[in-house]
Amino acid sequence: MEINLKKLSQNEWGPGFNGVEKKVDLGDPKISIVVGMTRDRVIGNHNQLPWRISEDLKLFKQITEHNTVIMGRKTYGSIPEKFRPLPNRNNIVITSNPQQHPKTNYCNSIKQALEKAKEFAKPIFIIGGSSIYKEFLDLADNLYISHIKKNHEGNIFFPEINWNDWKIIEEKEYEEFIFKKYKRRTQSL
Ligand SMILES: NC(=O)c1ccc[n+]([C@@H]2O[C@H](COP(=O)([O-])OP(=O)(O)OC[C@H]3O[C@@H](n4cnc5c(N)ncnc54)[C@H](OP(=O)(O)O)[C@@H]3O)[C@@H](O)[C@H]2O)c1
Repeated sequence: MEINLKKLSQNEWGPGFNGVEKKVDLGDPKISIVVGMTRDRVIGNHNQLPWRISEDLKLFKQITEHNTVIMGRKTYGSIPEKFRPLPNRNNIVITSNPQQHPKTNYCNSIKQALEKAKEFAKPIFIIGGSSIYKEFLDLADNLYISHIKKNHEGNIFFPEINWNDWKIIEEKEYEEFIFKKYKRRTQSL
């Protein structure tokens, strides 16, 4: 990925920066999906999360803070107004009706959202909802899934996952969920 160093903040210049504007290839930032879902892949109920699990919210913050988050317009709208845009994160919202906003980056397509995210040169976290997960599943390098232990009623689902594509690289049990981090298996010819 080509990015213009002028756009990076001071602490992203890294050692040895001498103020010369130049282009560097930093490689594309990794794309990860972050989601909480039940065994039945329920993720939402009438535009809200079907559960409130503070440990999961804490984990979500830890994972996404200081990085870039991409979400659909409905998910953004479901975040309580005082918490949005999500603080200390580059917020990108995908909608067919983008607006100008000083702190939230509205984009009208997946492509435009990815281009914007790449400008930030930070790991990219796809944070829902269902339509956005579906559109990004094939592009993701990692999945961070909180597998919710209890069943919950819901009308919004995570798309079907082909588990053969993914291997577990981290796992931790919490009271109400099991967190698993998956990495995409590399194709062997
Ligand atoms: N469990 C979890 O971890 C989790 C995480 C996030 C969200 N959720 C839940 O998921 C639900 C929301 O999901 P959702 O699927 O209904 O909505 P969503 O994906 O958050 O947003 C859908 C909207 O995104 C925009 N959009 C999507 N693809 C687009 C594209 N290619 N180009 C332009 N715009 C596009 C459209 O906005 P416009 O209509 O403005 O054009 C569309 O109506 C809520 O219940 C929420 O609580 C759960």
